[in-house]
Amino acid sequence: MEKRLLGKTAIVTGSARGIGREYALRMAKLGANVVITDIDLSAGKYKEKDAKAKTVREEVRALGVESLEFEGDGTDENFVRLVAEKTKSTFGSLDVLINNIGGTGGAGPGLATEMELDKFRKVIDINLTTTFLFSKHAGNIMKEQKNGKIINVASVAGFVPLFVVQPHYSAGKAAVISLTKTMALELAPYGITVNAIAPGYISTVKWDAHFDSQIEELTKKVPLGRIGTTEDCAKVIEFLATDLSDYLTGQTIFVDGGLKSLNPSSSKIENYTV
Ligand SMILES: NC(=O)c1ccc[n+]([C@@H]2O[C@H](COP(=O)([O-])OP(=O)(O)OC[C@H]3O[C@@H](n4cnc5c(N)ncnc54)[C@H](O)[C@@H]3O)[C@@H](O)[C@H]2O)c1
Repeated sequence: MEKRLLGKTAIVTGSARGIGREYALRMAKLGANVVITDIDLSAGKYKEKDAKAKTVREEVRALGVESLEFEGDGTDENFVRLVAEKTKSTFGSLDVLINNIGGTGGAGPGLATEMELDKFRKVIDINLTTTFLFSKHAGNIMKEQKNGKIINVASVAGFVPLFVVQPHYSAGKAAVISLTKTMALELAPYGITVNAIAPGYISTVKWDAHFDSQIEELTKKVPLGRIGTTEDCAKVIEFLATDLSDYLTGQTIFVDGGLKSLNPSSSKIENYTV
């Protein structure tokens, strides 16, 4: 793989497991030093099956680059500021930010008309506030450098409601797509690009466990006829993190096997749990 990010530094949020881990490994393969940050660095029962070490940091370092890891809550501004500042002071630059934290944080599904406010706010915070905070603090460093690439992780659910019981998650991801465009406009004069990736159904240890009995049904909804892989997403992240996408900003790329564009019917599955 061509080392298009040699000597650069990337922060990948929510990278202790799942798709975020794959982004961290991809950054390392491209030659970047990688900062791993997560609320739980252990990954626990959701550790990916092909993991080659106890932590993602060890896996990244085995690829010949340097790495820092920070355990903390991405909704805590003091924590986020510290991650951004330590990254800059350790490596001298902060070139790529991948805002991958997301999901429902165990808050679970529910209909909008029945949902407690706390539950709604929690999921908005995990998906939107973390993206805002990391973009704010990394963005200020990138403004001084006059370059950088911010990549937000949205979802097809931010464009079309995939599950009627995910109003909090869908709204959070829709807001991520909106923030991507506004910050792209703000940061364009500094040579900083801000884009988003919107995955469809992507297989991870956790996703497979949750959708176990519904995988066949969900696969039928995907025009390309298969559930996506973390690798499918990492290839697009590579494009957005490197000079391959230098003249692209404010865009959201759907990595979904055609789900959003070709088959936008929303799912009626209601027994979905997280
Ligand atoms: N898997 C899919 O099918 C799919 C589809 C569309 C979008 N996405 C998005 O891709 C991203 C990664 O998804 P995944 O399937 O790997 O999920 P995941 O739950 O395995 O990964 C999310 C990571 O974020 C961390 N995290 C959660 N809340 C945090 C917080 N407050 N502070 C710090 N870290 C926190 C978790 O510990 C976890 O490691 C998420 O943003 C998700 O919404 C996933």
